[in-house]
Amino acid sequence: MSIFCILNLKNSQFCKLIDVLKCLKQRQIYANSTSYRSLSQRLGEINGKQNSATFHDVIANRKLEAKRSILVQVQSAQSCKELYTYCNAITPVKQMFHYSTGVEPLHFIIVEFSKEADVSNVLSQSTYAESLQIVPVQSLFLWFKAPVKKNKQKVLKAAKLQIENGTFILNEDDVRHSLKEEKSVSNQMLSLYNSIKLNDISTRLRFIVARQIETALSGLFPHVVVYPFGSSVNGFGRMGCDLDLVLRLNENQSTSADSRLVFHSKAITASERSTSQRHMEVIGDLLQLFLPGCSHVRRILQARVPIIKFYQQLADVECDLSMSNMSGVHMSNLLHLMGEFDSRVRPLVFTVRKWAAEVGLTNSHPGRWITNFSLGLMVLAFLQKPGYAPPVLPGLNLLIKSAGPEDTFITEEGINCTFLRNPERMLDFRRLNTDSLQSLLEQFFVHYSNFDFSMKAVCLNEGSPVTKPDHSPLYIVNPLEQGLNVSKNVSMEELERLKMEMRNATWILESQEVKGMNWGVLSLFDGRRKFGMSPAPRQAKLLEVSTLFETESDGERIEFKSGQVEREISHVKSETKENIKQIEMKSRRRKSRR
Ligand code: CTP
Ligand code: MG
Repeated sequence: MSIFCILNLKNSQFCKLIDVLKCLKQRQIYANSTSYRSLSQRLGEINGKQNSATFHDVIANRKLEAKRSILVQVQSAQSCKELYTYCNAITPVKQMFHYSTGVEPLHFIIVEFSKEADVSNVLSQSTYAESLQIVPVQSLFLWFKAPVKKNKQKVLKAAKLQIENGTFILNEDDVRHSLKEEKSVSNQMLSLYNSIKLNDISTRLRFIVARQIETALSGLFPHVVVYPFGSSVNGFGRMGCDLDLVLRLNENQSTSADSRLVFHSKAITASERSTSQRHMEVIGDLLQLFLPGCSHVRRILQARVPIIKFYQQLADVECDLSMSNMSGVHMSNLLHLMGEFDSRVRPLVFTVRKWAAEVGLTNSHPGRWITNFSLGLMVLAFLQKPGYAPPVLPGLNLLIKSAGPEDTFITEEGINCTFLRNPERMLDFRRLNTDSLQSLLEQFFVHYSNFDFSMKAVCLNEGSPVTKPDHSPLYIVNPLEQGLNVSKNVSMEELERLKMEMRNATWILESQEVKGMNWGVLSLFDGRRKFGMSPAPRQAKLLEVSTLFETESDGERIEFKSGQVEREISHVKSETKENIKQIEMKSRRRKSRR
């Protein structure tokens, strides 16, 4: 009887049924705690893999890869074969990846072995530099010195070496050139996405950076886990993006009532926040004094979310390390899920972000302008309700309704991060909208050109705009903490710029008739120049990082360097007026031609 029922089910219903059966089996596991469970612990439990990899699978595999890898500085790319021969003599090498950093390049190789134990084996046969002037730290970061005696060993062929891409970032001219050659705007968007998205080696490197911190702390905290999150893992990262990390000292640590031997530990006497700040201070010192490659360590401990910024120069990555809650990781899971739902999501987000950077709406420094993260949420919200067409993406509320017990996550702070994690279970939903990428891009700009920002908030939970709960110029409901506005930082002036540029973009895309030199998305990126306007004055907008965070003591926002910002605003206003005039004139001319 039950087999008969299964055969009559659609794919998504079948998946759901399997999940229900799995959940029944797992009921015992969840009986103890339906609230916060550590992510890694749950990764091990959820093993019913479906067709496309879930965020959990991706992270788990990347973490394992990092555990099996070391990073070795070599003299040049030619040293690869020698290194391969040397390592292979200790333990079999699985794969090697070459990359270089800097203008006068320093060369590095990621060596991946088959097992984590192989790394310990190789490290046990490594040594320290002969100088006495070093801190004798053992880490995954090594260098390959010249042989003392002439090496008689036969140099093996390093067949498994991936050398083409490295971490090389395509230069702007090459990207533009390839876009010019494309046949359609949709193809341009795909090509842009493929040329600037984070590649495999850069992703591996980011997990190795996280692993370096884990291994450094693991003596004191055997259950330490460092999770990369944000654009490095959510599928929306571009080459060269920063690395967001969250450090958890006691992940997976279980307390057993049966054990009679209990670890002696120091009591925490100060408040949770000041204890955490103090811990971060020490971790900052550890990175600065002991960990190879970690440099430019800056501690921003008074911010609402205290962070340590540092540059990992051997991996050439800017990092932000926090120790706060896991909601950022779950948010990355949500974004990853949205990207997996439909193959148009990522190219659309990349195009919109590139456009925003080109017209000066975003900036790599924090400030009163929209961030890439907020912009991404705006695109996702649009895809949940693209005009009259069926939605491309489901609202978060639907994902919450469809969640099974295995999707239940509540952070230690009580933030409910429960939502369906497996896009395969909503296959039916995914086939309804068939618009081209070009059409979605055009609709995106029209959607937000007509959006009532004064009354409405962008909301991914409902899948449609909701009434704004306060007077922030731009309100984007934080999908996981609905009481918070993700874009609280955005000023009225920056919102005006955003609206103006959206209208500009709508008009530019509408008025494309023939392919010229800079056609399609290229004309979008060059919009300001096309109208005879100067490129956006980015430098004038820079602010000190420390002035951008809320102070904990009084909860007030620190005043920005107002003179600088006012000058910027008046510049934008005069440009905006000029811009409106030009659009109106051109629009009139087009109408009269018709
Ligand atoms: N985040 C969040 N809530 C916010 C801001 C950020 O949950 N209000 C989380 C998101 O998961 C986000 C991550 O923190 O992806 C990192 O933030 P940020 O570095 O600003 O954005 P990225 O997505 O990493 O994009 P970028 O490439 O610009 O760094
Ligand atoms: Mg980031």
